[in-house]
Parts: sequence; structure tokens; C-alpha cells
Amino acid sequence: MGTFLGLAFTLTLLFCVAQGKVLYYDFVVKETPIDMLCETNRTVLTVNGLFPGPEIHAHKGDTIYVNVTNIGPYGVTIHWHGVRQIRYPWSDGPENITQCPIPTNSSFLQKVILTEEEGTLWWHAHSDWTRATVHGPIIILPITNYPYKFDEQHTIVIGEWYARDTKAIIDEALATGGDPDLSVAYTINGQPGDSYPCYNGLMYNIEVVRGKTYLFRIIHSGMNEEMFFGIAKHNLTVVGMDGAYVKPLKTNYLMITPGQTMDVLVTANQAPGRYYMVFSPFVDTNAPSNKNVTRGVFQYNGNYNHSETPVSPELPGFTNKSDAGNFTIQLRSLNSKEHPSTVPTKITRNITITVSVNQQPCPANKTCLGPGDDSMHSASLNNISFSAPSISILQAYYNNINGVFNKTFPDKPPFVFDYTGNVSALGEAAFVSTEVLMIKYNEEVEIRFQGTNFGAAENHPMHLHGYSFYVVGMGDGNFSDSYVSQYNTVDPPYINTVGLPKNGWTAIRFKANNPGVWFMHCHLERHSSWGMDTVLIVGEGPNKDQKMLPPPHHMPPCSGS
Ligand code: C2O
Ligand code: CU
Repeated sequence: MGTFLGLAFTLTLLFCVAQGKVLYYDFVVKETPIDMLCETNRTVLTVNGLFPGPEIHAHKGDTIYVNVTNIGPYGVTIHWHGVRQIRYPWSDGPENITQCPIPTNSSFLQKVILTEEEGTLWWHAHSDWTRATVHGPIIILPITNYPYKFDEQHTIVIGEWYARDTKAIIDEALATGGDPDLSVAYTINGQPGDSYPCYNGLMYNIEVVRGKTYLFRIIHSGMNEEMFFGIAKHNLTVVGMDGAYVKPLKTNYLMITPGQTMDVLVTANQAPGRYYMVFSPFVDTNAPSNKNVTRGVFQYNGNYNHSETPVSPELPGFTNKSDAGNFTIQLRSLNSKEHPSTVPTKITRNITITVSVNQQPCPANKTCLGPGDDSMHSASLNNISFSAPSISILQAYYNNINGVFNKTFPDKPPFVFDYTGNVSALGEAAFVSTEVLMIKYNEEVEIRFQGTNFGAAENHPMHLHGYSFYVVGMGDGNFSDSYVSQYNTVDPPYINTVGLPKNGWTAIRFKANNPGVWFMHCHLERHSSWGMDTVLIVGEGPNKDQKMLPPPHHMPPCSGS
């Protein structure tokens, strides 16, 4: 008996070692004064007073407890973007999907369970538009070694700065149906840089040594625009994306969508001097957009004329859809012996989802500020504009509470039309409802996202919680079954956010082996607020380790909020 217990104890210890370390962080969400662009009286919501917020450092397989205390003026939630949270949706964070908001003056101890993620991810608020200033990096180091070499690593967080409170911006826009305010600046690690007249010396600046290689972990935390990025005269080599490795991809610019991360190597191999690093928006739409750029400097140490104006990179123009697509389609997962790709090839569930920007008619005796000043902006998936319930879907599902959501999100668009052609004769209204997509445990799922030409068509960064997925195909126009034979099922990128091309399609695959309630939405914040969202409920398997773990003892309360 003693020996048996001893053995069990040793096994448990070994198991714990294999599972990684347990780490603790404290997050305090609060209003903080931040000086930006000569405005000195602004406070914005931050974590621990920092913009961007604190960096979480972990190793592959660690478990992180984050005690989130909210002392801000309204309820918020925090999401760990790209962390799969295997069997544990309880800490995932999207408001009224997996939890109710953490009320002012209370805390929620969140458990972030890392498993196969390795590279760069991030965390952000998942309530209204608070993520504009409430976000930060999650750096996940390998246990042994990297599949590439570098000398130093640095984190670059792209942000979008608004001239007033972002919760007020979206609350007003949703009430009137009009366009939300545009951001006034893009920032690199909270600094707008010298393309803004009132930048006041706040510019990202990295001093480099000739001959050294730098790993930049780039996180796109911006709200509403994709970005091109480049460094004057220097090549970029993309080696990772969304917490997984990719085959080294050498390029002189990249395109990154909100929600995505990219790990990029840059070798300082040019003449000593100062070189601009520039993020410039990719604007493939007629919708209003912030067309500013943000700049930092990649600056060599040593003796040369430091007062010379830095050289600028040649980036694709704002509207250059083909350069955006040409970069994206080159991405491949590493698919090495240590990091193999396991692309599902026996698809048991095939789903097609149209992705649309819509207009709803203005209700009687109301003034609306949407298109034509007599409608309301809206957006949908399969013509269903998602309406979030007032209690969490996860809790309703787990406790069998009826009347919160319908299990009837369809596997096909409600009607077939020329999605990317002339749609002007078709109605632009969507059906407003809370529909979830039910998926059986271990199904091999393919989802074909189909862009449509309604409203202001554009690229949509589609993001799935609880999973990364393989992007097996992508193209312009309407999807056709004949494309299936051209899918990449060998080394497609394994990511959590994919840019669905404007008036195009993309196909993703994943094995539904993570039971739970998982949000899926466009990561352009205005589209998500307008209803370009749905929820996947992945069922449980027969075995004990195929079921959701029990909820924590304390969840933020859903009543009275
Ligand atoms: Cu960055 Cu719903 O996520
Ligand atoms: Cu979108």
C-alpha cells in the first residue's frame, strides 16, 4: 500500500513536470491618465496603469493564474486570444458568451491553460470596445530550443488610439446605427511616432548592432484596419504566427490583420544609419477609415550622422489588395518532425458561412444615422446578425437554462445567390437572433467562409476561440467545389485568425476535440459589434478526459448586471 502510494506520488510529480509550471499574475483594470497627441486630460481604461498592458511570460505547457480585479467604472472581461483553454471555456472571457462581466470592485481568478501554443499570443478585454486600451502580449517560450536563431527579442504591439472613450463611441454608434468614430492615430507600443504633428517625442526606437539578428514579436491589437509593415532597406523573415511556427518566409513587407500575431526575424545588415519601420493601413473598402501611418526607427549604434532623416520603406499603397493577398498566400506551417502538421482529411461536417455587412431598416419614430441617414449598420454570418444574450451562453448551456440561445445556426447560407456579384437587387437586412452552431465531439470540421458584396465589402479577419485551424484554401470570387482538389493539406498555416479576402472565400479545417462554448467572429471591432459573430458549441466525448472541466468556484455573477 505504502509503495503503491509512493509510486502514485512519484507519477503525479512526473506528470506535473511534464505539464509545466504554474505562474501567477495580478491584473488591475482601472482608469489611468495617458498623455497622447498633446491631450493631457484623458484617462483611459488600462491594466496596471500600462498602455499597452503588462507582458505575460511563460513556457510551453505552463498554467497561468491571472487574478483580474476591476476597479474601473463598468464591468469588463479579459480574453486570452489564441490560448485554446482545452476543456476549460470558463476563463475564455468573451462577455455574455462564456461569462458575465466582472463588476466594478470585484475580482475573477482566471486560469489560462497553455498546451501546444508556442510563440506569441496576446490578451485583451472582450467587452464593448474596451480592448482598444486593455490589451497586452503573451510570450510563450519553447521548453528546449527555437527552430531558428536570433540575438535579441522585442515585442511590438500595434494599437489604435481614439480621441474619446471607446465604450461611449460604440454605445452611441449602436444606438443611432451610424458609423462609430474613427481612431485618430495608430501606435507602436503606445507611441504614435513622428508622422503625427503632436507626437511630442513619443516614437518607438530600437538601437541595433550591425550583424545581429532581431526577433520581433508583432501583435496587431488595432481595432478596425489591417496593416502593412516594413523596415526600410531590410528584409523580414516571418517564422511564426498566432502561436505556431511557419516555414521561414522572406519578404520586404507583410500584411497583418487585427487579432493576428507574427514573429519576424530582421538582421541588421545595412549601412549604419536610421531606418523607418512603418505600419500603414490596408484599406480595401469604401467605408470610412483612418488612413494615417505610424512610424518607429530601426537605428544602428555607432558613428554616423544621427540627425539625418531616416529612410522610408516602400510599402504597398493603402488599397493594394493584390499585394495583401500575395503575401498571405505564401504562408506555410513549419511541418517539421518536431512541429508536424496534422490537417484533418476525413471531413465529417462541412459548413459554408456567408460573411456580410448589412443594413437594417430604421425602426418607426426613431432617427437613424446609418447609410442614407435612414437605416442602421448591421453585419451577419449566414444572414444572422448575432445578438448577445444578457446572461452567458456557457452558463445557460451548462445549467440547461432554456430561452437564452437557439441551436439552429445553419450549415449553409439560407439562400444561394451570386455572393460576390451585383447584389443591389437583394434586400440588405439580416435576421437578428442568438443562434449557435452545434458540433459533435471529434468531428472533422471544414468551414468555408464566403465574402459577399453587400454594403462596404472588405477583408474580414475571422477569429475562432478554443482552436487554431488550418487554412487549406483561399481565393477571390465565389467558392466552387472544384477548388477542393487544390487545397493545401500538407503544410497550410495553423492560425486562429484568417483574413477572408474582400469578395473572396477561405476554407479552414480543424478537429473538434475541445469541448466547450467558443465564440467565432470578425476581429474588426465594428463588424463584431454589428453582429458578424456566432458561437460554436462543441459537445463532449464519452470518456472522462473528453468532457469539460467543472467551473471554478467563483464566476462573475450574471444577475443584476
Ligand atoms: Cu481577440 Cu474574440 O477575440
Ligand atoms: Cu469584418
